Amino acid sequence: MFRLPDLPYEKSAFAGWLSPESFDFHYAKHHKTYLDKMNSAIEGTDQQKMSLEQIVASSKGGLFNNAAQSWNHTFFWHSITPKPPAPSPQLEVVKAINKTFGSLDEFRAQFTNTAISQFGSGWAWLVKDSGGKLEILSTGNADTPMTQGKIPLLTCDVWEHAYYIDHRNARPKFVEGFLNHINWDFCEKNYLGKDIPNMTAFMK
Ligand SMILES: [Fe+2]
Repeated sequence: MFRLPDLPYEKSAFAGWLSPESFDFHYAKHHKTYLDKMNSAIEGTDQQKMSLEQIVASSKGGLFNNAAQSWNHTFFWHSITPKPPAPSPQLEVVKAINKTFGSLDEFRAQFTNTAISQFGSGWAWLVKDSGGKLEILSTGNADTPMTQGKIPLLTCDVWEHAYYIDHRNARPKFVEGFLNHINWDFCEKNYLGKDIPNMTAFMK
C-alpha cells in the first residue's frame, strides 16, 4: 500500500500564500482521497508490487486518474519550498531556461500564461523532452506529461481546490505565489536526472 507522503515543511510555512487550512483540505483530504481510492483499486492485484510510476504508465480510467493525481500532488508538494533563495545562474536548469525562454522573467510570464489559460482543472508544468529540450505545457484533469515521454521538472496544481480557500477565484494570484516559492534544487535534480522523478520513494 502507498502512504500519504510527509510534507517537506510545516503546513504553516507559506503564510501570505497558502494557509494551514488549505493544506488541511488540499493535502489531508483531496490528495488523501486520490491515494485511498488508488490503494483500494490495487489491493490484491499485481499492481501492489509496482512503483507508482509504473502504475501511472500502465493504467487507464479511474485507476489512472487516482494514481496520476497521487503522483502529481506528491510532485507538487516538492515543487514548492517556503523560503527559496533566488535561483542561482549557476544551476544547469537556470542556464537552460535562459537559453530556451530568454530570461527567468520571460519563463515566469510564459508559465503564468499557460497556468491561467488551462481551461478548467489541470496542471501547469515545466518539462524536458527526450532530447533535453525544455517546454512549458498544461494538462487537463489528472493527465501528466510523463505519459507523453516527457520528464516533469516542476508543476503547479491549477485545480480550483488548490487556490479557492486562500485566493477564491483568483488563479493568477495563486500562480504568482507559486512562482515565488519554486524549489529550484528539486527542479535542478529533476533536470539532471534521466528518468521520471521517483515519487514512490516518498510513499512506500
Ligand atoms: Fe490538487
